[in-house]
Amino acid sequence: MKFFVDTADVAAIRELYDLGMVDGVTTNPSLIKKSGRDILEVTKEICDMVPGPVSAEVTAVDADKMIEEGRKLAEIADNIAVKVPLTWDGLKACKTLTGEGKMVNVTLCFSANQALLAAKAGATFISPFIGRLDDLNLDGMDLIADIREIYDNYGFETQILAASIRSANHMSECAKIGADVATAPPNVIKAMANHVLTDKGLAQFLKDIDDAGIKIV
Ligand code: E4P
Repeated sequence: MKFFVDTADVAAIRELYDLGMVDGVTTNPSLIKKSGRDILEVTKEICDMVPGPVSAEVTAVDADKMIEEGRKLAEIADNIAVKVPLTWDGLKACKTLTGEGKMVNVTLCFSANQALLAAKAGATFISPFIGRLDDLNLDGMDLIADIREIYDNYGFETQILAASIRSANHMSECAKIGADVATAPPNVIKAMANHVLTDKGLAQFLKDIDDAGIKIV
């Protein structure tokens, strides 16, 4: 499973990228706002750092304007994936932009039917939002499994980009189901390293190192 990092914080991306934990990046208007940076400038900086797909989201809601914005975003770098919302206009923009050879990430997907339409429109990535479904007492992971089954039934090449990931458990669940990509905030990717027994075991080893005066260099 590929790891994308869901942030526009360049320093956080750099730390994870240097460790080999970043195959791509996703941003959205809320993350750009949080960064306090100009969208074109920060997106360019991210594209220069990470060679994998970098999703940048359009601001328009009508297809023609989305297409215009998508073309402008795609000029930033070859690795831009234009992010469009899963609306009827977004699907039209997806079809046009992928027809021009651009990568398109169809975002805000909350149902298997929406994912089916995105695949028919030629989406490069479909972004089902797990956490926001969980927030409503629905099971976001069931949606990932349903889309996996549907795409595999028909050999759709659209990649499942599991999004709105809130916990380390979401990452392993996505990997078990077979999501192609999971995009998570930096703190979630880092939290995957945590285990209480690791902490406990290390504390004991450190005590024994101290007691025995063990020294290597
Ligand atoms: C993905 O592309 C989205 O930017 C993101 O995963 C949304 O996550 P949230 O529901 O935590 O805002």
